[in-house]
Amino acid sequence: MKVSLSPAVPPPLLQVRNLKVHFRVGDRLVRAVDDVDFDVNAGECVGVVGESGSGKSTLIRAISRLMLNLRVDQIAGDVRFEGRDLLAMPDRELRLLRRSRGFSMIFQDPLGYLNPTQRVGRQIAEALSPDARSRSESSRVNDLLDEVGFPDPKSVARRYPHELSGGMRQRVMIAMALASDPKLLFADEPTTALDATVQLQVLQMLYRLHKNRNMAVAIITHDLGVVAEMCDRVYVMQTGKVLESASTVDLFERPQHPYSARLVDLSAHRTDETRARA
Ligand SMILES: Nc1ncnc2c1ncn2[C@@H]1O[C@H](COP(=O)(O)OP(=O)(O)OP(=O)(O)O)[C@@H](O)[C@H]1O
Ligand SMILES: [Mg+2]
Repeated sequence: MKVSLSPAVPPPLLQVRNLKVHFRVGDRLVRAVDDVDFDVNAGECVGVVGESGSGKSTLIRAISRLMLNLRVDQIAGDVRFEGRDLLAMPDRELRLLRRSRGFSMIFQDPLGYLNPTQRVGRQIAEALSPDARSRSESSRVNDLLDEVGFPDPKSVARRYPHELSGGMRQRVMIAMALASDPKLLFADEPTTALDATVQLQVLQMLYRLHKNRNMAVAIITHDLGVVAEMCDRVYVMQTGKVLESASTVDLFERPQHPYSARLVDLSAHRTDETRARA
């Protein structure tokens, strides 16, 4: 009998194998995600890049079982969070997992996600995980608003979403996502809709949260500069496939695929242009 003496390597926090998501559009089949393997380890930041329509959003929506509409023709594969099969998980169990130390998601458009008729403090309170220390809801909400950079949490908690700027709404959505104390945060182009200075602030804040909370982050972005600043590893997607998965350093220094090399070149070019303008 062969006995392995090497210590057991813990499985990734999230492990996706052979994921397929196909949509039927008229009589056409769209292979939005086509046999994708994707891992996120505890505490790491993973980037997902690739051109528009390459399947980035569909990938993380299928993993989190959020917002997939009814035109899905097929979803198949193996998706495990801490070893638990997410695709087969009953809705109730999935809700519990999202509610407490599981995963959360933030999107490009917080308005589509926030309830316009409810004060933001209430909405964050409803997302709170059960708390063993039985602190009051309002103090936990204030702490979260403080953590996402509001100097005046109490007054923000009383406001409605339409009374906040785009950047503030994005912070509120992040506070809501943090309320369940997630081990993994999915971020789908979280700053694309914001103007450049606010983008930078929100990204810096996300990075700080990732480090301070030791929270894994999977971020979809069009900006390789964001990957370079934030991510440990990166997946490059094209037409539903992962073309390349590499450490961020390897992607920039030794891209394996011509498409990845082109992305890296383009991003270097953009950085030069920005420097030239400054
Ligand atoms: N609900 C849907 N019904 C039918 N087709 C869809 C649906 N959602 C996505 N698709 C198709 O699946 C493919 C992948 O789309 P997806 O939104 O995942 O790409 P993406 O990489 O996130 O693009 P972007 O960078 O523009 O956000 C596209 O061809 C898209 O048209
Ligand atoms: Mg998308």
